[in-house]
Amino acid sequence: MSIRINPSILAADFVNMESALHSISSADLVHVDVMDNHFVPNLTFGPGMVGRIQDVSPIPLDVHLMIENPERWAPGYAELGAFSVTFHAESTSDPVAVARRLREIGSRAGLALKPGTDVEPYLELLDEFDQILVMTVEPGFGGQKFMHETMPKLRLLAETATRTGSELWLQVDGGITEDTIAVAAEAGANTFVAGSSVFASDNPALQIDTLRQTASRHAHDHRANR
Ligand code: DX5
Ligand code: ZN
Repeated sequence: MSIRINPSILAADFVNMESALHSISSADLVHVDVMDNHFVPNLTFGPGMVGRIQDVSPIPLDVHLMIENPERWAPGYAELGAFSVTFHAESTSDPVAVARRLREIGSRAGLALKPGTDVEPYLELLDEFDQILVMTVEPGFGGQKFMHETMPKLRLLAETATRTGSELWLQVDGGITEDTIAVAAEAGANTFVAGSSVFASDNPALQIDTLRQTASRHAHDHRANR
């Protein structure tokens, strides 16, 4: 069973980004939250900063775009070398076109769903994506409470992926702690974003380890070969 732990640097000290990145080098990917103050009511950084993170990070980048107009902006993040680029279903009328462009450039393509967005319209399109991000908080801010009501969506995705033999990664983002990671793993998630629970810890490496072990213990048996 492959479990991936992706710390979100939204919770890191932006002035000491390079040391923050080195403190999580035992993680799988670094989750990079790009916000434009239009799609979400918060603002982080853009391609210039993400390019520098890409230059100095010991682990590959999992970019989460909380922005409008991903058609215009998403390809640039793939071009600068991000391992995966995830954009929101609510931000585009043609998610398949955006995903195809990202794959063409060489990055994995992710589709993110806000807590209130249904997954059913996308179940037929899962082959077009490498990962589905089920938001477990309203996007925009770190440190919020995990929304248990998003778990049925994850279960449906996990069942569909298992039934169709899909290699899709199922990611959760928001309010992931030692407690909630178990709930999300049981529902079928295999890729976990954690911001405050990693960076508020005195020992991020140890916390990454704890989260990984907890997720592994609660992961689905029927997904053991993934
Ligand atoms: C929220 C971001 C998350 C955020 C998670 O909109 O997408 O990646 O950093 O932070 P925590 O783990 O603190 O909920
Ligand atoms: Zn995120």
